[in-house]
Amino acid sequence: MQIVGLSGSFRSGSYNTKLLRFIGTLFDEDAEYVVVSDLDQLPFYAETWESALPAYAEQLRALVADADALIIASPEYNHSYTPVIKNAIDWLSRPYGAGSITRKPVALVGASPSLYGTIRAQSHLRQVLHGVDADLVTRPEIFVNDASSKFDLQGNLTDEVGVELTKALVARLYELEVSDRRLTA
Ligand code: FNR
Repeated sequence: MQIVGLSGSFRSGSYNTKLLRFIGTLFDEDAEYVVVSDLDQLPFYAETWESALPAYAEQLRALVADADALIIASPEYNHSYTPVIKNAIDWLSRPYGAGSITRKPVALVGASPSLYGTIRAQSHLRQVLHGVDADLVTRPEIFVNDASSKFDLQGNLTDEVGVELTKALVARLYELEVSDRRLTA
């Protein structure tokens, strides 16, 4: 099982990156789990890049192409997701029809100090994932609100409901992997 977590925040102490790292602790030991939390290093997408890909973009495309699933954790900025996530999705959606995010299972999670826990950001992201023909993992929906009170000093999620939901998400991703194998066996 190979999973890539994309964080929409590159802030040190980011709740969204913490959430992704916490989810990583719930997979079996033999799972490969990579969290990308420096998407600010990815150049803005332009089609002219296709003839000479920046190394970061090439690596990101390869990482996602090899993954069984992606988990995106984006902060909510002004009722939407962050620009580094849109830029990453644009990179991963090309070449047209053969982007590494196309038909890739993608799960959404998010954390915010506010009351709504990125509900609005995730709703916008769903639209965009539909546009790139990703296989959206629709459940469980994970909105960590009041995030400043929900992680301990080691970065573990302490909220009981949140822990149950993140475990359910990991179980769902394992289920998808099994059904995928059945289809290709
Ligand atoms: C925010 N924040 C925010 N929070 C929210 O729940 N809804 C929102 O619309 C916004 N808008 C917003 C805009 C901008 C420009 C900033 C900088 C912040 C607060 C945001 O959720 C908070 O800073 C989080 O801690 C960001 O996530 P990370 O970096 O902790 O992962």
